[in-house]
Amino acid sequence: MKDKYRVVVVGMGKRGMHHALAFQRNPRFEVVGLCDIDPARLDAAATKLGVTLKGTDAREVAQAARPDVFCFCTLPNLRTPLIHAGIDSGAQLIAMEKPVALTSAEGFEIRRMLQASGVKAVVSHQHRYGEHYRKVKEIVASGALGRVHTVYATASGWMMHMLSHLIEYIRWFNDGAPAEWVMAQAAGRGKLADLHPSPDYIAGFVHFANGVHGVIECGAGAPDVTEVDYWWRKCRIGAQGPHGFAEVLTGGGWRAVTSQGASSGGGCMDYDHDMPPYIQEMADWLDDPARVHPCSFDLAYPGFEIMMAFCRSAAQGGQVSLPLAAPADEIQLLNHSLSSNLVIPSTPASRAQYLPK
Ligand SMILES: NC(=O)c1ccc[n+]([C@@H]2O[C@H](COP(=O)([O-])OP(=O)(O)OC[C@H]3O[C@@H](n4cnc5c(N)ncnc54)[C@H](O)[C@@H]3O)[C@@H](O)[C@H]2O)c1
Repeated sequence: MKDKYRVVVVGMGKRGMHHALAFQRNPRFEVVGLCDIDPARLDAAATKLGVTLKGTDAREVAQAARPDVFCFCTLPNLRTPLIHAGIDSGAQLIAMEKPVALTSAEGFEIRRMLQASGVKAVVSHQHRYGEHYRKVKEIVASGALGRVHTVYATASGWMMHMLSHLIEYIRWFNDGAPAEWVMAQAAGRGKLADLHPSPDYIAGFVHFANGVHGVIECGAGAPDVTEVDYWWRKCRIGAQGPHGFAEVLTGGGWRAVTSQGASSGGGCMDYDHDMPPYIQEMADWLDDPARVHPCSFDLAYPGFEIMMAFCRSAAQGGQVSLPLAAPADEIQLLNHSLSSNLVIPSTPASRAQYLPK
């Protein structure tokens, strides 16, 4: 156990700055190196954070800094080389952004590399620290809904941005039960060329081994969440049982109806609120191997396979069993199979996001 863990942060965009600032504000961490391929962005971040070791090559910065924590927040097209650089730097923990990867082929490889090296890893599904998310988990876990039979989630944003989050939290509400199969449909090619490549709309079912069913919609065709104004936070995630339901709205609190009646409360996804405990639990895990981070790679990885299985089912039809037996390139499968028909958005706001101007 160290008094302070040394941290390198790679990718000084929106999420890289969130991470770097949260590490710097936690007395258990010291940010010792920064990297970005954009020199102006790197210099601005280094000045703001007061870090002198910086560079445009992640491997070089990590080798020079020899960190305990190697954190990277690059776009999803870049994962394996940075996992490699993190492992080679001698870091004990790699902190990465969602999604785990763009394809199961890359996901399999990342899992293999982490298992072979023994390096800990966490995936940033930090919404779970929101008070409204925690309240719903508390209600579900209290048994007030009875034995949960259905978990559900919708988001207006597209798959590589949002689906990883949706799956993570329904799995959390369902106590991490393993999934046995999924079946899904997809529509719209517009976002296949995005930096978060995705079908415009994907929706389907997950069957979990404990009998619970998951129902998920992500993208243009997802229903509006009228209680929430901010489009990216129009997410509804919940659980139903024989006595009622409890659900969180990412940008608008929580509500529940149970046999005790109706209740509701506030809360909104907030990086300033959610990042400090996410970062602190990295220190806890580094201090004590028994205190496994709730966002550990091993806990997140089955959710990533559910997302990839959705893509396979949408591309190839039928049910896809889990865990996945062999790797594939799911984005290529979708590229080959998705029709050129334009997606039909559910709301004017989604029309503006998904259809050509
Ligand atoms: N957990 C969340 O709530 C959440 C929210 C938003 C985004 N994200 C995820 O975070 C990741 C980053 O998103 P963002 O919005 O911060 O992106 P961003 O575009 O703001 O930042 C990415 C940065 O990475 C840099 N970069 C690219 N290639 C690099 C390389 N080879 N070496 C070093 N730096 C490199 C870019 O120059 C840029 O500064 C994505 O995977 C995204 O899905 C997560």
